[in-house]
This record gives sequence, C-alpha cells and structure tokens, in this order.
Amino acid sequence: MLSIAITGANGQLGQSFRATAPLFPGLELKYFNRTEFDVTNQTVVQEAMDFYRFDYLINCAAYTNVVGAESNIEAANLLNGVAVGYLAQAAQKNKTHLVQISTDYVFDGNKLEPYRPTDLTNPLNVYGQSKLLGEQLVAQYCDRFSVIRTSWVYSEYGSNFYTKIKSRADQGQTLWITDEYIGTPTYSPDLAEHILSGISKDNLPLGISHFAGKDVMTWFDLARKLLPGADIRVAPKETPPLLVNRPKNSALAR
Ligand SMILES: NC(=O)c1ccc[n+]([C@@H]2O[C@H](COP(=O)([O-])OP(=O)(O)OC[C@H]3O[C@@H](n4cnc5c(N)ncnc54)[C@H](OP(=O)(O)O)[C@@H]3O)[C@@H](O)[C@H]2O)c1
Repeated sequence: MLSIAITGANGQLGQSFRATAPLFPGLELKYFNRTEFDVTNQTVVQEAMDFYRFDYLINCAAYTNVVGAESNIEAANLLNGVAVGYLAQAAQKNKTHLVQISTDYVFDGNKLEPYRPTDLTNPLNVYGQSKLLGEQLVAQYCDRFSVIRTSWVYSEYGSNFYTKIKSRADQGQTLWITDEYIGTPTYSPDLAEHILSGISKDNLPLGISHFAGKDVMTWFDLARKLLPGADIRVAPKETPPLLVNRPKNSALAR
C-alpha cells in the first residue's frame, strides 16, 4: 500500500484530503498538523522523512494570508519558500515523490487568456514571490516531483472565500464583492481527488501542472453562484494605494 503524508493537515486542503481519502481505500494517508510536523524546522523535516520514508508527501502547509505577507516577508518566504526546499532535499534523499501546491499568483495577470504551465511567471506580490521560490527550490533539489498550481480555492472546510461570505450572509449582511479580477475558482475536494486519483493510477503529472475549476469568472460571479439567495452587490472599484497588488487575470488553463 502506498504511504502518503499530508503536511498542514488542518488547513482547508488538508481537511479536503481527509474528506476525500475514503474514495481511495488503496492509499494510506497520514495527516500531520503544524505541531506534529513543522515544515520550517529542517531537523524535524529530515528526521520525519528519514523515519517514515513516505512514497508521497503532499505539502498543504503554507502562508496563505496574501495581505499579511506584504508586511511579513520573512515569514512568508520561510514557509512558502525555504521550508519547501527542506522538504525537497529530504524527499530527494528518501525517494519520496514531493507534491507541492502552488498558486495562480505566480503570474502578473497581463495575459488576456488563461495561463498555461509554461507561461512566464512574474508575481506582483510577496505571497506570489514566496510561492515561486518554493517552486524553484523543488525543481532545484528533486528529480521527480509534481508542482500543482491551483487558484481561488474554496470549500466548506477551514477559512476561505465561501466560509467568509456565508457567515456574513447568515447574519443578514449585504455582500459587496469585487468584479475587478477574473480567475478559475477551484473546489478544494476536487483538487484533493485529482491528486489522489493521479497517485492511485500512477499518472500524476510530473513537473509543473495546473489544476483549477473549468469556469472563468469574477469573485462577484462566484459569490452569486455559491449563495444564490443572498443580497450580493458589486463593490466600488478599489482606489490606490491598494493593500496588495493582485493579478487582474489569474485564470489557469491545464
Ligand atoms: N486558498 C486559496 O485560495 C489558494 C489559492 C491558490 C493556491 N493555494 C495553495 O493551496 C495550498 C493549500 O491552501 P489552503 O487553502 O489549504 O491553506 P490554509 O487553509 O491556510 O492551510 C495552511 C495550513 O498550513 C499550516 N501551517 C502553517 N505553518 C506551518 C508550519 N510551519 N508547518 C506545518 N504546517 C503549517 C496551517 O496550520 P494552522 O492551522 O496551525 O495555522 C494551516 O493548517 C497552499 O499551498 C496555498 O498556497 C491556495
């Protein structure tokens, strides 16, 4: 039976793996939260990976606060970049296939079409830069890896766009949602299923690939799709200085 480690297991995607794993009885998943497996501690990473010698490690640990990263550059780079390098070195040593989750925010959004895996990266913000560093370190240290870029991840698990707008709508609030950005929203359990299916069939894409929802839309469109009965209106245009720069178009094509 293939053994698979999930790091950052209490986050949105980690919880989505827990919910999806029963569909794959042939895979043995082990879940590690931040206290059990701190990916920023190189000794912990090396010892855990030498001990368990997982077949796959799916890294769901990340610094995901895009606005917070702007003022916490070191913390974002450590978790999304340097720590991914620790995982990559230990994966290479133990012949563990590293699956690193990356982001649409590695792109600058100037393209008019959805981005393909081979398109040039040019992140606009610290979060995107730190995730790009993670991608580069995986490729530097590992011979066999999968970097899977995804975008606008939502679900009923953890804290995300859906859970945030639902809680405000449940309190009877009007939701003011921007229509200034377009992307490909991704249901988190679909991403978990894509990865586990690829592992179980031994056809998970190697190198850099994209996995995102099929429909291109704005945050406003997504809110209306997820909460059709709520009072949802287009937010006024943001005026500079913005808290963080985001790509106007970060839709992903496979
Ligand atoms: N959410 C999106 O819209 C989106 C879009 C594109 C790509 N992605 C990528 O998708 C992946 C999963 O995101 P998500 O939405 O599941 O994020 P999330 O809900 O914020 O989960 C991140 C997890 O990382 C854990 N963590 C933090 N520091 C850690 C450390 N030092 N060691 C181990 N774990 C640590 C957190 O633990 P605590 O629970 O203790 O804080 C949290 O459980 C990330 O790589 C993210 O960059 C997300």
